[in-house]
Amino acid sequence: MTKVIKNGTIVTADLTYQADVKIADGKIIEIGADLSGDEIIDAAGCYIMPGGIDPHTHLEMPFMGTHSTDDFASGTRAALAGGTTMVVDFCLPAPGESLLDALKVWDNKSAQASCDYSFHMAITWWGEQVFDEMKIITEEKGINTFKHFLAYKGALMVNDDELYSSFKRCAELGATPLVHAENGDVIAELTAQLLEQGNTGPEGHAYSRPTQVEGEATNRAIMIADMAGAPLYVVHTSCEEAHEAIRRAKMQGKRVWGEPLVQHLVLDESEYFHEDWDHAARRVMSPPFRNKQHQDSLWAGLASGTLSCVATDHCAFTTEQKRFGLGDFSKIPNGTGGLEDRLPVLWTKGVNTGRITMNEFVAVTSTNIAKILNCYPQKGAVLVGSDADLIVWDPNASKTITADAQASAIDYNVFEGIEVLGLPRYVLTRGYMAVDKGVIKAKEGHGEFVARDANASVNTALSKWKDLTAPRPVERSGIPATGV
Ligand code: URP
Ligand code: ZN
Ligand code: ZN
Ligand code: ZN
Repeated sequence: MTKVIKNGTIVTADLTYQADVKIADGKIIEIGADLSGDEIIDAAGCYIMPGGIDPHTHLEMPFMGTHSTDDFASGTRAALAGGTTMVVDFCLPAPGESLLDALKVWDNKSAQASCDYSFHMAITWWGEQVFDEMKIITEEKGINTFKHFLAYKGALMVNDDELYSSFKRCAELGATPLVHAENGDVIAELTAQLLEQGNTGPEGHAYSRPTQVEGEATNRAIMIADMAGAPLYVVHTSCEEAHEAIRRAKMQGKRVWGEPLVQHLVLDESEYFHEDWDHAARRVMSPPFRNKQHQDSLWAGLASGTLSCVATDHCAFTTEQKRFGLGDFSKIPNGTGGLEDRLPVLWTKGVNTGRITMNEFVAVTSTNIAKILNCYPQKGAVLVGSDADLIVWDPNASKTITADAQASAIDYNVFEGIEVLGLPRYVLTRGYMAVDKGVIKAKEGHGEFVARDANASVNTALSKWKDLTAPRPVERSGIPATGV
């Protein structure tokens, strides 16, 4: 049984051209003119693009005394509804827990996924067991990325010595470290101070995490990665100070990538000063939303290539869960949704305004991360042999975003009321039609784990350079006698 997408324009990270796409057994088997097949999918007036890849989700995440409400069932359904065909979730061992045990938990949870997925492994503590298991995770479990939190003191945060040890281990294994870069020590001090002064509302969350805590931690992580000989992927880059550190590192030839979230590109800090407590608390996430200057910096980074990927950090809590923090902002579960809205919002605010091109849109929503994570061109491409994870994108379809109509399981949407122009008409996940003329037909359990090998070309090149430039003793012929 073959399917052919006809009459559309293929848009990839580097090309825009007219051709049909033929699919069989979940793969693209032919691209060309006048193809025939058993089933025809009409893409007239539409763009055919690689499905979105969201490299940053927390589905059913145990966090701040609760679990994020969207699990792999509702979360991947929401992803497909918005044109995202692969998510990369964070496997999160509790401090002291075996990485392999945590992975079993994530394997079980992800059985519900209706689109493909992969995992990053979080390093939440350090010891010989973690050091040993990192090798198994990398060489046998198909995970080549390790996440480190510099925030959440007393919970997930690691210190600089642990960070350096883990980054060095990543370098040895050909893996890539990721970092949540905010200075957890300073945040803890500021939080205590603010609460003591009576700043207990959600605006306190923004005050407790100024851009300096992010800029400092981003620069620190970059320098530590460089000394450890590892590349570095910085998640949820939200401000100019962090972008500046990444930009400078890139100009110095360091292998560093930055990931703005669609929320930070579009929503600003005024949300935390809303007079409705629920409205403000629903938007509490780390780092917090920033002002327009920071947003402009992030958009410029996407256009210039100093920032590489747009993610969501989808970590969705209900209003009831957010109310755990009534009277103390530090207890509001951190996280927002966005999986379903990432592509339509980025297209509307980015492509339709001329801030980014269609090809850049594909690059930052799909192709760049597939390359960084070493799963390109299985994912992130419209090429013969690639998985048929495809969107038929209708640039003239529009809707107003509303929680009532969303696939996500929570009771609000941080993009509520935004009008988007540009939506998927069809979404295919390995050839299966998960969105059919806008109707979601996601199939629970269809999603498969995407294994990713270590030693991607960037890791290998960096190791080679670091070996070549490593400290070496000077060979001296005449050694002076010591002592008298
Ligand atoms: O507030 C956020 N971002 N919640 C999810 C966990 C994290 O820090 O990524
Ligand atoms: Zn749990
Ligand atoms: Zn984070
Ligand atoms: Zn996150």
